[in-house]
Amino acid sequence: MKTTLKGKHCITLQEWTREEIDTVLDLALDLKRQKALGIPHHLLKDKTFFMLFFEESTRTRNAFEAGMTQLGGHAHWLTPAATQIDHGETAKDTVEVLARYGDGIGIRNCTLGTGNAYMREMARHARIPVINMQCDIYHPTQALADILTIKEKFPGDLSGRKFVMSWTYAPRYVRPLSMPQSLVMLMTRYGMDVTLAHPPEFRLMPDILKQAEVNARQAGVKFEYVDDMDEAFKDADIVYAKSWGAMMHTPDEREALDLIERYPGWVCDQRRMGLTKPGSIYMHCMPADRGVEVTDEVMDGPHSVLYDQAENRLHAHKALMALTM
Ligand code: CP
Repeated sequence: MKTTLKGKHCITLQEWTREEIDTVLDLALDLKRQKALGIPHHLLKDKTFFMLFFEESTRTRNAFEAGMTQLGGHAHWLTPAATQIDHGETAKDTVEVLARYGDGIGIRNCTLGTGNAYMREMARHARIPVINMQCDIYHPTQALADILTIKEKFPGDLSGRKFVMSWTYAPRYVRPLSMPQSLVMLMTRYGMDVTLAHPPEFRLMPDILKQAEVNARQAGVKFEYVDDMDEAFKDADIVYAKSWGAMMHTPDEREALDLIERYPGWVCDQRRMGLTKPGSIYMHCMPADRGVEVTDEVMDGPHSVLYDQAENRLHAHKALMALTM
């Protein structure tokens, strides 16, 4: 257990050791138990957490905000339009001032090419911890909740478990790469054999793939890519099936949207779940495109752990804030 996490930024879990991550997971379970028992745990009494959202959110915002209330502090919801950011105030000036008022800041900025850079710039100047609430590259707080959920569903050693990160067909908008990228890097570190499945145009960032390969090598596990959803699902213990964009193939949004339409068969359905191991789980960070990328039967069926997974956002965020702020 690490007791020296005060002030530590959380931009990507790759910058956190296994011991540090395990400390967060351990506290998250403790806080989950305390909440279930109705034991007050005002670990951040009178503290303030700023939540700066460049994009919309259901889970991230509300898990942080409710979590801060339960920890005895307060969370402010901010947007560029509700601050002077839309008028051009810099990341440095914004965070220098907010750090005089409060104790931590979370940022969601998924703009490709600048989202992560924006929060790195804030972290460079911040005297308070900066938490990445999702950017164009990573989504560490979701990944924390996901590994917490997997450890709850598969207690004990995770080695030999097959984790599948599969692309799905979900039209209408181009989803960020942050979720699959965070997961292939993290799950290899936790000793699982990771299979990444997607149509050829939906590649992840080269640096992320390289890092996942390094993580897998160091952990002595497999990290493989397939372009066939059925093949990926065979004998899986954990299926994480969600859509992401073809940004690594084309910078053109219209072309990226058209590419999605080439693969309407990439749906997580009961037949495919039948290819997985008995007792396997289906995961999705949500929002899921119900009836499109995944059938109702799977979302509401026995493999699904969606709502437990979403609940774990709350416990993981609380632990992360309590340890860093
Ligand atoms: N999974 C996730 O980050 O959900 P929100 O976009 O609703 O925060």
